[in-house]
Amino acid sequence: LPEDIAWLWPRLLSCRDQVLADVENKKNRRPSPIFPEPVDSRFLDLPEELLTTSRSEVERMVEVARNFGQKNDSVVVLGIGGSYMGARALFEGCCHPHHNELPREQRGGHPRLYFEGNNLDNDTMAGLIELLENRPDEKWGIVVISKSGSTIETAVAFRIFVEALRRHCQKKELSLGEHILVVSQEGSNLWRLCQSLGVPEANMFAFPNDVGGRFSVLSAVGLIPSAVVGLDVKRLLEGAVAANEAFRKNDPAENLILKYVAICHLMEMQRGASIRVLATWGKRLEALGLWYDQLLSESLGKNGQGATPLTVVNTRDLHSRGQQHQEGRRDKLFTNVWPTQERLPTLRIPRWDTDEDGLNEYAGRTVHELLNAARQGTNQAYAEALRRTAEIVIPQIDERTLGAVFQFLMLATVTEGYLIGINPYGQPGVEAYKRHMRQYLRKT
Ligand code: PA5
Repeated sequence: LPEDIAWLWPRLLSCRDQVLADVENKKNRRPSPIFPEPVDSRFLDLPEELLTTSRSEVERMVEVARNFGQKNDSVVVLGIGGSYMGARALFEGCCHPHHNELPREQRGGHPRLYFEGNNLDNDTMAGLIELLENRPDEKWGIVVISKSGSTIETAVAFRIFVEALRRHCQKKELSLGEHILVVSQEGSNLWRLCQSLGVPEANMFAFPNDVGGRFSVLSAVGLIPSAVVGLDVKRLLEGAVAANEAFRKNDPAENLILKYVAICHLMEMQRGASIRVLATWGKRLEALGLWYDQLLSESLGKNGQGATPLTVVNTRDLHSRGQQHQEGRRDKLFTNVWPTQERLPTLRIPRWDTDEDGLNEYAGRTVHELLNAARQGTNQAYAEALRRTAEIVIPQIDERTLGAVFQFLMLATVTEGYLIGINPYGQPGVEAYKRHMRQYLRKT
């Protein structure tokens, strides 16, 4: 309710100011007065920095990535978690839905893009290597991304794919190092490994200091794979800058980010809505939802707190989860991500002489109009059952809007962390399984 938001507003403004102050603290190497653990907050002003003082670094990224894309018919991006999900969200959101199946000229001359190293899945890796080896006349390359440079999934995939690439390069008399790009912390194991493999310095990009993995999509981590397939990384950064500007406003009507934090927080605390359903309208946005799953889970899932994210793709999942969302436990807040326009040629329902399916009633209506009607119908059905829906409306899915949505959700998540007294940066909990995994490997 508006009065609840008004009641929370002064606290939200204070949290916002603390978030901003901690960015300055980090820059000036001062500790956060709020959290004793590290606060990797520099994601916040990275977009501005990359568009101004570090513009030449972005130009270098784009040039190297574009050339790499031109030289290779296929590129395999190796990375996991924050080192992969944002790039995949951009690829699926902004490239043609069947990019990899299109002939090269219809891909704008850009290479096919594959993602691996995000699991320990023998069959998907072996299958991709088979696919690449079945195209002996084509060239391919690897973009390997890991902040720590020692994540097992990425490291294992890197060795396996480098072996395959080495065989390929030997046959075609290509230089192995030229077919690898790396994004990692300078001096990491991966960084040094790439140096010993002969990867030229120009192909190596530093993972920015003080930016956490899941906050890194607007750095080389997301920009390099995007530029490889020709996306406009400047527009991406501009979208994020617009979100930063809105975040600095004090008026609730203009600061939709703080307003969204208020809604999420109040729904959780006052109405028990501890599950945040990100309802993406259209398949292109599913990977954005998966990126957000990680952001919310790893940032706020600490000290027995933090809402649980769940991504759905509508209308697909109305046919699987819809029943529960309409009549199940009242523990959910729905957030639609709604692009008001389609990007590819508009499809309409054709009128047929034969009308057994009864669709002539809707003949001439566009598929997107139907999707919109489904969204409106779902909103109304949930509202009638006193189930709440928030909406993030974007004009269409492109680099600028995704840049804004990424930054919007990152800013909302860190602010909520400050509001509930949780350091949103870092993910100490994920170390436990890794420790046990190493023990099992030693035992067997
Ligand atoms: O948010 C994070 O920091 C993590 O989820 C990492 O992105 C993930 O574990 C991958 O780590 P790295 O980039 O070091 O390989």
